[in-house]
Amino acid sequence: MEVEKVQNIALKFNNNNSNSSRIIEESSIPKEFIRSENEQPAITTVHGTELEVPTIDLSEANEDELVDLISKASEEWGLFQVVNHGIPTQVIQDLQKAGRDFFELPQEEKEVYSKPPPGYKGSEGYSNKLGKNIDTVRPWVDHLFHNIWPPSAINFHFWPKNPPSYRKANEEYAKYLIGVTEKLMKCWSKGLGLEEHKIREGGGGDEMVYLAKINYYPPCPRPELALGVPAHTDLSLLTILVPNDVAGLQVCRDGLWYNVRYIPNALIIHIGDQLEVLSNGKYKAVLHRTTVNKEKTRMSWPVFIEPPPHHEVGPVPELITENNPAKYKTKKFADYKYCKLNKLPQ
Ligand code: OGA
Ligand code: NI
Repeated sequence: MEVEKVQNIALKFNNNNSNSSRIIEESSIPKEFIRSENEQPAITTVHGTELEVPTIDLSEANEDELVDLISKASEEWGLFQVVNHGIPTQVIQDLQKAGRDFFELPQEEKEVYSKPPPGYKGSEGYSNKLGKNIDTVRPWVDHLFHNIWPPSAINFHFWPKNPPSYRKANEEYAKYLIGVTEKLMKCWSKGLGLEEHKIREGGGGDEMVYLAKINYYPPCPRPELALGVPAHTDLSLLTILVPNDVAGLQVCRDGLWYNVRYIPNALIIHIGDQLEVLSNGKYKAVLHRTTVNKEKTRMSWPVFIEPPPHHEVGPVPELITENNPAKYKTKKFADYKYCKLNKLPQ
């Protein structure tokens, strides 16, 4: 059964309360969105720290230097931002505009892209739940998922027809994103002391699937009580994310939560579970979550770059020695995903 979209809930809230500031102050949010104290962002975020997520210039000409920077950030943070990545600003702006225009359509028009009823296996579509929704507290976010690469994985049924620019904007972005992904995978291979094609090959090579998502976080009257997406690591090998200018992404390092700074035109790179497995734990999948904003709508455009479902992923054999035994099982990506979404042991 479809659950009411958060965008709709937030809208009703605005309408009801717009005439009375007194009510706004006293207002709360539906209790299914209220986090327990150990998750509430106001209580659990580190403020005023010097520590910051690394930003890496991807046009660095000294390759060894670039490999070192990426390798270090992937070990210590599992997340970093890249600038001078070669994706034209216009391409990113067009992607964002197309997504924004879609979410501003009337609700009925968006519902056309809702996930089909139970029985449908894929993750594509417009929704606000993942997997079986075992979590009891609801996230303050709606999303749209669809594959953007390779052509054999694309189902245009899930791509909005409106705005008309949607398809072109996503195709253009995908084209550039492949270049960035390939460059990063080479650096990770080298950082592990492997031949440069090894990580790509371990992830499924040409069959790797680029799954695009748009997160839409409407303004939330009580941002200190709710979360956008709760703490998780991504299932993917890597995730490349473009945010809008409303900050909200947080990463966990040594048990503490840090805000990720908004840098115009930067891409945010997340190490996902599959790269942690391939690297046998040297690179860490980043634990992250998002906060929401009282006045502004936050949006983000992550692309999850994943092995194809049937592909078996395990620690790269060349990394395994007597002193460095395999820390992870080798298993099909589809099985890994099923266990994770249903909270079963791997
Ligand atoms: C996600 C996610 C972060 C963000 O969708 O998996 O972590 O900044 N999003 O929206
Ligand atoms: Ni994520």
